[in-house]
Amino acid sequence: MRAIEMSGDGKFEIVEVDEPRSEPGNVTVDVEYTSLNRGELMRARAAPAGFRPGWNFAGIVTCAGARTDVAEGIRVAGYLYSGAWAERICVPPTQIAKIPDGVSMEQAAALPVAGLTALGALDAGGNLLARRVLVTGASGGVGAFAVQLGTLAGAEVTALVRRKVDEHRSLFPASTRIVSTNNGLEGIEALAPFDLVIETLGGEILGHAMTMLTASGKCVTLGVTDNARVSFDAERFFMTGTASLEGYVLFRDHKATASQGMMRLLSLVEDGRLKVPIGLCESWETIEEVAEQLIARTFAGKAVLRIKGAPTQ
Ligand SMILES: NC(=O)c1ccc[n+]([C@@H]2O[C@H](COP(=O)([O-])OP(=O)(O)OC[C@H]3O[C@@H](n4cnc5c(N)ncnc54)[C@H](OP(=O)(O)O)[C@@H]3O)[C@@H](O)[C@H]2O)c1
Repeated sequence: MRAIEMSGDGKFEIVEVDEPRSEPGNVTVDVEYTSLNRGELMRARAAPAGFRPGWNFAGIVTCAGARTDVAEGIRVAGYLYSGAWAERICVPPTQIAKIPDGVSMEQAAALPVAGLTALGALDAGGNLLARRVLVTGASGGVGAFAVQLGTLAGAEVTALVRRKVDEHRSLFPASTRIVSTNNGLEGIEALAPFDLVIETLGGEILGHAMTMLTASGKCVTLGVTDNARVSFDAERFFMTGTASLEGYVLFRDHKATASQGMMRLLSLVEDGRLKVPIGLCESWETIEEVAEQLIARTFAGKAVLRIKGAPTQ
C-alpha cells in the first residue's frame, strides 16, 4: 500500500509502506478521500524524514473492530492525529462516524477537523440563541463552518474576512454580517460588543477581540494564523466585567466525543442545513501544489484529495 511521507526538507512524497498495525478494537478503513488543513501542513513541513502526516479521511470499512454500528463495506469518515494520507489506516473507534446516504465521500472528507473544531469552539460559548458571535478568519475552513454553525444555533453572526466582502458572500448564510479588515478595524468595532468570539488568527485581531466582548463575553482562541504574539489593552479588558479568554484544542478537548460530534455535523450536511464548501478536489499526487495554494489561500473552501484510484508510479 501507499502513503504520504515527509522527505525531511518539507516535501510530500507518495511511497510504498507496510500495512498499518491495528490496536485492539481499531477500525480498519480503505481511504478514498482526504482533505487538507492549514495546521497539519505547517506541522508536516517542519517534520523529520519519514513522518506520516494526515488528519481527515473518508473511506470504506474493511474491519469493524470494536464498533458494533459499522460493518465491512460501510462508508465512514473521521480523523487521525497523523497518518491519514494513506490507502489503508487503522482508526480508534471513537474517531469515526458513519456517512449518511445523502452525504458524498468528498463532503465527509472535508468535514472532520475543521467542522469539529468549529463545533467545539462554539459549544464552549454555551447557549447562542440571539447571542452576538464574531468569527475571525471566517473565510477559512474552520471559520466558514463556525459562521454557519453559529447561525444554525440561533446567533447573530459577524464574519471577519480580509478581502473584499463580496468575494466570500457565497460561503456564508444570508443573515451573516460580513466585515473586511481591508480598511482597518473600524468596521468591526462599530458592531461590538460580542458575547462570543471564535478567534483563529492571533496577533492584532486577537488583541482587539479581547476588548470587544460583552461584560460576561468569552473569546475562544484556537489558532495563530497571523501571529502567536499578542498585545492588548488589559485595562479595557478587565474594566469590561468578567469577560474571559479560553483556549481550544480539538485533539485535547473533543477527544471523547469526536464520533458524536461527527454525527451531529454529518446529519446537518445530510438535511442540507450545513454546506461543505469544497474549493477544489484533485488527486493526492498533486498535494505539493494544492498545499501551496491552501497556504496562500488562492481559493476559498476546503481542498479535497482523491486517494483511491490514483495510478501507481
Ligand atoms: N486549536 C485547534 O484544535 C485547531 C484546529 C484546526 C485549526 N486550527 C487553527 O485554526 C486556524 C485556521 O485553520 P483553517 O484550517 O481554517 O485555515 P485556512 O482554511 O487556511 O483559513 C485561514 C483563514 O485565515 C485568513 N488569513 C490567513 N492569514 C491571515 C492574516 N495574516 N491575517 C488575517 N487573516 C488571515 C485567510 O483569509 P483569506 O481567505 O483572506 O486568505 C483564511 O481564510 C489555523 O491557525 C489552524 O492552525 C486550530
